[in-house]
Amino acid sequence: MLKGKHLIDPQDFSVEELDEIFDLAEEIIKKPEDFTNVCDGKLLGTLFFEPSTRTRLSFESAMLRLGGKVVGFSEPNSSSVAKGENLPDTIRTVAAYTDIIAMRHPKEGAPRYGSQYSDVPLINAGDGGHQHPTQTLTDLLTIRVAKGKMTDLTIGLCGDLKFGRTVHSLIKAMSRYENVKFILISPNELKTPKYIKAEILDRKSLDYVEVEKLEDVIEQLDILYMTRVQKERFFNEADYIRLKDSYILDNAKLKTAKDDLTILHPLPRVNEISMEIDSDPRAWYFKQTKYGMFVRMALIAKLLGVR
Ligand code: NCD
Repeated sequence: MLKGKHLIDPQDFSVEELDEIFDLAEEIIKKPEDFTNVCDGKLLGTLFFEPSTRTRLSFESAMLRLGGKVVGFSEPNSSSVAKGENLPDTIRTVAAYTDIIAMRHPKEGAPRYGSQYSDVPLINAGDGGHQHPTQTLTDLLTIRVAKGKMTDLTIGLCGDLKFGRTVHSLIKAMSRYENVKFILISPNELKTPKYIKAEILDRKSLDYVEVEKLEDVIEQLDILYMTRVQKERFFNEADYIRLKDSYILDNAKLKTAKDDLTILHPLPRVNEISMEIDSDPRAWYFKQTKYGMFVRMALIAKLLGVR
């Protein structure tokens, strides 16, 4: 039963519960007009303590398309946090007003902490460089549609694997499917955090390698997950400038790639994927962003128990 649950970490739901969400998302994709009233009278609170356009608009569009309504703030300065209110009080207040909450916060762990004070479902919409479980639902649904399976896949994750929370969440989620091989492609300074390797990849004895050059491994990949260098988490502008263009995927780099490679990106893109790739049938990132809205519709409906 998903009704009433929080979603803080990609492993909060079982693989079967995830399938339930994806099944519903696929139904919504097929016939969105059947779902325009299912959240009639329900209210989503969006608490964005860290700026976001895409994820916030995706949540808002999802709720509005289900017939629900939305209240919230998009930066803490426009909330009573600016007056010094603590997180538990903000959450208790918004939980009293709304039926479900989506929360983004720059501090790792804040949504988990906040959820203890919420008697309505609270969804982590990204916490610092930690986790981003609804992006992962988006990524998994896209993989399911593109590949027709979640097993027996070689996935390359490329770019900022250190600060990229979408990468951390996707590794956690994909580690639960059979025979998935991970190729972790990053500059030395932006390697996957040790805790992800120790707690997920090493603990489960999963097949993974760390490399620096995309060209060396691209022909092995079924999925290529490109990411942006996370400028806002750098302490030093010079390091960001030095690393930001480490990988630029273009036609030349794709030469040896498989014909059925699936190229994903959580967006926003900066320079990591040349625009010449956008018309390549292997580019799935704009479909992926659309699936993000549909999967959030399915998630909201399930957590509210309206379907
Ligand atoms: C990602 C995020 O916020 O972590 N974007 C998103 O959710 N659409 C990736 C990123 O910002 O690079």
